[in-house]
Amino acid sequence: MNYKVPRGTQDILPGQSEKWQKVEEIIRQLCQVYRYQEIRTPIFEQTELFQRSVGDTTDIVQKEMYTFKDRGDRSLTLRPEGTAAVVRSYVEHKMFGQPDQPVKLSYIGPMFRYERQQAGRYRQFVQFGVEAIGSKDPAIDAEVIALAMDVYETAGLKNLKLVINSLGDADVRAAHRDALIKHFEPHIDDFCSDCQNRLEKNPLRILDCKVDRENPLMATAPALTDYLNEESAAYFEAVKKYLDVLGITYVVDPNLVRGLDYYNHTTFEIMSTATDLGAITTLCGGGRYNGLVEQIGGPESPGIGFAMSIERLLLALEAEGRSLDTDNALDMYIVAMDDQAKLKAVELASSFRAKGISTELDYASRKVKAQMKSADRLGAKWVIVLGESELEEQAANVKNMELGSQEKVPFHDLVNYLTKHKVQ
Ligand code: HAM
Repeated sequence: MNYKVPRGTQDILPGQSEKWQKVEEIIRQLCQVYRYQEIRTPIFEQTELFQRSVGDTTDIVQKEMYTFKDRGDRSLTLRPEGTAAVVRSYVEHKMFGQPDQPVKLSYIGPMFRYERQQAGRYRQFVQFGVEAIGSKDPAIDAEVIALAMDVYETAGLKNLKLVINSLGDADVRAAHRDALIKHFEPHIDDFCSDCQNRLEKNPLRILDCKVDRENPLMATAPALTDYLNEESAAYFEAVKKYLDVLGITYVVDPNLVRGLDYYNHTTFEIMSTATDLGAITTLCGGGRYNGLVEQIGGPESPGIGFAMSIERLLLALEAEGRSLDTDNALDMYIVAMDDQAKLKAVELASSFRAKGISTELDYASRKVKAQMKSADRLGAKWVIVLGESELEEQAANVKNMELGSQEKVPFHDLVNYLTKHKVQ
């Protein structure tokens, strides 16, 4: 049998995994600074949760979910996104009762969508996301956007474009919906069957159809911004003002509708403008979802959040030709010349590692020369060679591979010596 990773998934191998760890470290640090505490929810949820929140007429729910029955005949779905589960948890654990609102949460974990595989689009991908639930202060919208930008900038990305829009409130959506129906109805036969279904159920979804993207009616469709009422417009203005204060530049795109149903008011995407990235340029998407908590059974608790995949962040870095500062250095390689020396090598390695000195040794009974080559390949900072004379003297020559120098150090003093020199 010739087994391969399932289509749309990937193995993250050593060499690559250090980059993931670095990005995760940046994310953890920034979440700590912005105060978004980590939440971990299950990988699968009741199917209905996604149908209700992401929306029955969305591509995600209609075409992309990994849904299955468990042995108790319950319909479960591998999570295609994180917001629904976080909101479910917010309601289930009555976080709305906490004195400090909004509750600010973050998550990193695998999401699953049955999508056509291409560069930047996977069937299993890892999203980092945040949700701030329990406030409709426009300043929190700006904070959430600032955090997303900060992650990219700290990772080293320069070619970024922030696009924002407002979808307004329920009244705005209703007026826009009627205008969309009027716009598309006379020509709906030219559209795909999904769009035909969407016309009555959710005409906004027609605007993000991947099949009919090129239809000229798409470009001339009524823009939501033209229907914004006073309150929604004022809210959007306030968000922009806060972004200005934060020195974050943005472009307003009235066609940014996003592919999930729970959004209203602020929506945003961060794109990469790197020329080498390929067709998929959206790195991050998010927005406000006032009403979602109520829909899932909680009291009024307006929320906003975003999600970004680590895969696309790394692809964008690659496209910009930037590398992450990963730390995978080997401190010490112990070469053992015979079985007696090997015993000592194992003992010393354990005492080094206990002090945080990364240590490697030979497990293939190789000759000294081959072990030295290994030490070189692994980029060891120091090497010690243990043989009969070292055991007799209870001391070893610590070779500094970078400087080409060496110093004789008694065994009992090695840990001290290495610890002292490691920080220099
Ligand atoms: P989304 O736009 O569906 O929004 O996904 C957000 C991000 O997840 C995308 O911008 C992209 O970075 C990544 N992503 C989505 N699908 C794939 C894929 N197939 N392969 C690789 N990366 C992918 C949401 O998921 C919302 N829950 C975001 C949100 C949070 N809104 C409010 N709070």
